[in-house]
Amino acid sequence: MAVVGLVGGTGLEKIFSGVEEGSYRAGDLEIRFARGSIGGVEVVFIPRHGWSHEYPPHRVPYEAYIHMFRSMGVDRVVGLSAVGSLRPDLGPGSIVVPSQLIDYSLHGRTLYDSRVYHVDFTRPYCPQLVELVARETARRGVDAKPYYTYVSTYGPRFETAAEISMLRRAGGDVVGMTSVPESVLAREAGIHYLLICVVSNYAAGMQERVTEEEVYRVMSRARERIEDMLRWVLPLVGEADLSDSCTLPYEAYREVYGV
Ligand code: HPA
Repeated sequence: MAVVGLVGGTGLEKIFSGVEEGSYRAGDLEIRFARGSIGGVEVVFIPRHGWSHEYPPHRVPYEAYIHMFRSMGVDRVVGLSAVGSLRPDLGPGSIVVPSQLIDYSLHGRTLYDSRVYHVDFTRPYCPQLVELVARETARRGVDAKPYYTYVSTYGPRFETAAEISMLRRAGGDVVGMTSVPESVLAREAGIHYLLICVVSNYAAGMQERVTEEEVYRVMSRARERIEDMLRWVLPLVGEADLSDSCTLPYEAYREVYGV
C-alpha cells in the first residue's frame, strides 16, 4: 500500500491515528508535517497555508512541499481546497472533484527553471483517481460532483464580477487560488494528484460581496462531511493500482534533482 500525501487546512491531522510530527528542510525553510494512519493507509499531511496560517496563496512554498513528498517516496497526493462557485446550481457547501483546470493565475512557477522540459498537462488531475473517486461517490451515494473545471487565479484578492463573468463563459465551474501551481508542480514531479474542493461561496458578482469570514464559516461547517469523505478517499488512493501516465515526468525530475 502506498503512502498518501495530503495538503489541506489545519486540523485535518486530527482524523489520523498514531500521529507523529516531522520536518523537512528546504533551504531556509523548515516544512513541518504530521504523519499518521487512517483506514490502514499511511498519510503525510501538510497544512497548505502553514501551521499558523502564515503563507498567503501566492507565497505558499509549493516547491518545497512537492520535493518533500518526493524525498519521502510519496507518489500520490490529495489536495483539499475552498473554492468559489461559478454555477448558480452549485451552492456553498457543495463538494466538487475537478477533472479539468484553466490557469488564469499565470503563476509560471515550475520545477524546471534550469532545464527545458514541457510537461504534458492534458489531464491536470490524475484521471484514474478522479474516475475512482467518482465511481465510489456514486456507489456510496455521497453528494460530491466530479468532472468539473477549476479556474485558478493568483489571489490573494478575490475576483471582480467581470472576471467571473468571463471565466464562466470560458467554461469554468469553480474558482480558487491554489491549484496552480500546486497541481502543476505535482505533475512535474510525476506525482498522481487529486483535488477535492468545497464550495464556500458564490463567486464575485453572483452574490453581494465575497468575504474571508464566509469562506471560513462555510468550510468549518463542511468539516465533518469532508473528514468523512477523506476516511474512505485516502485508503482508496493508497490502495489504487495506478498506471504510469502521471508519473512519466519523474524521469526528468530525477535527472534534475537526483531524488
Ligand atoms: N475566489 C477565489 N478563491 C476562493 C474563492 C473565490 O470566490 N472562494 C474560496 N476560495
